[in-house]
Amino acid sequence: MAILALLLLIPSARADEAPLTATPGDATRGRAIVADRTRGLCLLCHSGPIPEERFQGNLAPPLDGAGLRWTAAELRLRLVDGKRLNPDSIMPSYYRTEGLHRVAPAQRGRPILAAQEIEDVIAYLLTLREEPPR
Ligand code: HEC
Repeated sequence: MAILALLLLIPSARADEAPLTATPGDATRGRAIVADRTRGLCLLCHSGPIPEERFQGNLAPPLDGAGLRWTAAELRLRLVDGKRLNPDSIMPSYYRTEGLHRVAPAQRGRPILAAQEIEDVIAYLLTLREEPPR
């Protein structure tokens, strides 16, 4: 039984439990990053409760309700490097610089979002506590 309990603990120990920065995320800044098609790009694939952005994606689950479905650590894992959960995912790894292919020289070694931006996006996603409209 003890071994089973230990095994069950392993996945959570590997998740990105700790915030990437000492400054807590800012949900207002996070919303702006999610809505911004040159920074977050989230709405290319996802939809969300951001009515001023007209064309939203349908390649991925709606972001509505993300704060009900996921904890901060689970969201961090998905944003930092979702390919650890699903190697075939089309979602970019927003905070990973190792092991990538075909990266433009100017972008090498630079994550898509900065650590503070990741924390801001997590803070915003945690505020999304309503399921998507049907
Ligand atoms: C190129 C498409 C694409 C982009 C861009 C993208 N995602 Fe995703 N995302 C996906 C897909 C597809 C999934 C479903 C799981 C999978 O395949 O990995 C997903 C899953 C998720 C999930 C879990 C969804 C659930 O089941 O509730 C969250 C949260 C999420 N993405 C947030 C974001 C945020 C925030 C951004 C922008 C910073 C973003 N995604 C950008 C494609 C994308």
